[in-house]
Amino acid sequence: MEIKKISISFEEYNEGEELSPSDSTLIDEAVIALDGSYAPYSNFHVGAALLMEDGEIIKGSNQENAAYPSGLCAERVAIFYANAKYPGKSIDSIAITVKADHFKTNGPVTPCGACRQVIAETEKRQNKKIRIIMKGDSGSTRIVDGIENLLPMMFHEEKLMKKKPNI
Ligand code: THU
Repeated sequence: MEIKKISISFEEYNEGEELSPSDSTLIDEAVIALDGSYAPYSNFHVGAALLMEDGEIIKGSNQENAAYPSGLCAERVAIFYANAKYPGKSIDSIAITVKADHFKTNGPVTPCGACRQVIAETEKRQNKKIRIIMKGDSGSTRIVDGIENLLPMMFHEEKLMKKKPNI
């Protein structure tokens, strides 16, 4: 038996520290995306903005439902919309931010497990890593270069793509 370790890496920018103009713009767009959030149950608004390979920015926000599991996170709203509208066009980066009605977030909020899995599949599909930029109300901004850093040992099963044998 051997104990093995996996390491992840991320960039951390302290509050006030300058981000690249492109990352900074994408965060601003994620903040604008908060306006479209429908979160009457959690009062927790999430905004996401995608930078596409051709420079277009696509926004998404969380959409809740009285039947709770029917709602969808901001990241998946944006990614599924982008993939549906522009199949074959790749996503360079995603910025994620939040605004809660009853408390402040100090530091970045990271995507939920289901969104990580969808980002993983999107990377696989486009054969290119996605930069994930995360920012809360205040505090530091964190950036990871690729979902591997948020979802080590992720589930990918290529064999599922194989055709079923004829019966
Ligand atoms: N939410 C997101 O939009 N993205 C995440 O990665 C985590 C959670 C939403 C879902 C729900 O509308 C609210 O935040 C509270 O969980």
